[in-house]
Amino acid sequence: MSTPAEPTSATAVQRLDYAGEGLTEADVPAAPLPLITAWLEAAVAREAERGDVPEPHAIAVATVDADGRPDVRTVLMRFLDAAGPGFVTSLESTKSRQLEAVPALAATLTWPAMFRAVRFRGRAEPVGEQEVDAYFAQRPRGSQISAWVSRQSQPVDGRAPLERAWAEVEERFAGRDVPRPPLWGGWRIVCDEVEAWAGRSNRLHDRFRWTRIGAGDLADPSAWSVQRLQP
Ligand SMILES: Cc1cc2nc3c(=O)[nH]c(=O)nc-3n(C[C@H](O)[C@H](O)[C@H](O)COP(=O)(O)O)c2cc1C
Repeated sequence: MSTPAEPTSATAVQRLDYAGEGLTEADVPAAPLPLITAWLEAAVAREAERGDVPEPHAIAVATVDADGRPDVRTVLMRFLDAAGPGFVTSLESTKSRQLEAVPALAATLTWPAMFRAVRFRGRAEPVGEQEVDAYFAQRPRGSQISAWVSRQSQPVDGRAPLERAWAEVEERFAGRDVPRPPLWGGWRIVCDEVEAWAGRSNRLHDRFRWTRIGAGDLADPSAWSVQRLQP
């Protein structure tokens, strides 16, 4: 039997009191979208005012591969509307290959300074071409060029080949708009479960989970039932 490791300074137990505002039945709408949108807006506003919610759109996105092994990485949530949360990425990346094989997605947004988190589970659906084009068109030019350069998730022999390729692509598109690469796109979670978590003192947190009961979208009250969960 192995002896438990002593906590190091990195793993030492911290006892932060999760003294958040909480969430009551009265705050929880019949469909999830209004609350999740309000929380995201509050996180963006708080980052602007107090600077303690960096990258409020950062979302951990979990996939499974064809062998059922889970995988997770952080991306930026670029869409949040009635159709579901979505992100942009390379369609030849590991995550996109996994989603083509097993179109199941789960994700979580966490705003520790606000003692709030959101979870989504559902089915992966490609973001429509028009939406992806519109998003790509307003990216900074340098990021547009990188989208052509990077074969995301493939090995590379050092940084130099990437920088050389970046300079070549920059020259190729000099004086004109950078078009969207054909293998660059996005994924949306068509949710069947959404959860809002609000941290409270003594770890007696508030949790509410919406479960899909009908065909409507994230804004349709008739499509969801909502239930408080134990912390
Ligand atoms: C804060 C943050 C934001 C990121 N945003 C994105 C993003 O929007 N799209 C993306 O493809 N990768 C993004 N990445 C990189 C991913 O975490 C990941 O390394 C990459 O998508 C490759 O993942 P994969 O090999 O599982 O496909 C981001 C990383 C961090 C830490």
